[in-house]
Amino acid sequence: MITITPATEHDLPIIRAIAYQTWPSTFGEILSAEQIEYMLGMMYSMDALKTQVNEKNHVFLLAQESDSQTYLGFTSYEFDYKGQSKSKIHKIYLLPASQGKGVGKLLINKVAELASAHGNDTLSLNVNKYNKAVQFYERMGFVVVNSEQIDIGNGFLMDDYVMEKPMKI
Ligand SMILES: CC(C)(COP(=O)(O)OP(=O)(O)OC[C@H]1O[C@@H](n2cnc3c(N)ncnc32)[C@H](O)[C@@H]1OP(=O)(O)O)[C@@H](O)C(=O)NCCC(=O)NCCS
Repeated sequence: MITITPATEHDLPIIRAIAYQTWPSTFGEILSAEQIEYMLGMMYSMDALKTQVNEKNHVFLLAQESDSQTYLGFTSYEFDYKGQSKSKIHKIYLLPASQGKGVGKLLINKVAELASAHGNDTLSLNVNKYNKAVQFYERMGFVVVNSEQIDIGNGFLMDDYVMEKPMKI
């Protein structure tokens, strides 16, 4: 059994540790080592995580094994993204050993349930165009609605698809 619980500020070091263990295998063939290090610093420093939670209304959920409480991964989302009826999934990362076992599907379904209950009618996210996760999202009912190249500074770009999943509310 898998338990999904909202994370507190106390859990942010766990989230940071999961990201650092997951990014090299996720992006090692897509981004340079320098860009991975830069982006991890930008998105997962304790200050950046605290700002996301306390000022940007990002909510983190942690997935754990119910019996051992072993951490498997996390997601983060934001309701009413940019004033729209959309919930934005900012992050979803499972430890390499926890991928491909249905946990990602549970996390997406949980966010969809919470977003619907909140009254949002669409899930939205950005994904690197070359990330295998694109096929996972398609399987989960997302479609590509746009492409974006985002300048993240230091000469680095994010080359993303915007994908969305309409929901019944
Ligand atoms: C992407 C990720 C969250 C998906 O979670 P997961 O637990 O591995 O995926 P699941 O096992 O829940 O898969 C759900 C469904 O998608 C399918 N799927 C998953 N990955 C797939 C892939 N690369 N290609 C095709 N189908 C895929 C599964 O077969 C499954 O189908 P089913 O419902 O018919 O059984 C996870 O693999 C991960 O953390 N990857 C590394 C980090 C990452 O890329 N995050 C996304 C950043 S935008």
